[in-house]
Amino acid sequence: MTVKQEWLAIADEALTKAYVPYSHFPVGACLVTKAGQTYQGVNIENASYGLTNCAERTAIFKAVSEGERDFQHLVIAGNTPEPISPCGACRQVMAEFCAPDMPVTLVGEHGVTKETTVSELLPYAFTEKDL
Ligand code: THU
Repeated sequence: MTVKQEWLAIADEALTKAYVPYSHFPVGACLVTKAGQTYQGVNIENASYGLTNCAERTAIFKAVSEGERDFQHLVIAGNTPEPISPCGACRQVMAEFCAPDMPVTLVGEHGVTKETTVSELLPYAFTEKDL
């Protein structure tokens, strides 16, 4: 399904809730289940920088910890000139919980968007099939 305005708005609103005292680089996410439930995520930083949790992983972990397993769409928003590019760790977590063809909408400032998929973001992913 194409991205809904509501999902974009949820990811955008999340930007205001990001905990980013160190980078001042807020990121927001909206993960949508196949049933239409939305989970908002923000990046949450830490004084020991390496413990930072990215926005999209926060959304995925919130949903998974509520028992959700079936997802249809992920929106990730940043205040970046180009649509935000998710980090490698988040791409691996997406590959764990989302189908390879699941749409991912990347959003930058002024609403500039790029439509992609989980497998485009992480081709040749290491998954349970490889164990
Ligand atoms: N960050 C995210 O939350 N998601 C991304 O897709 C890229 C990076 C966060 C991590 C850190 O809090 C800040 O952006 C700067 O790296």
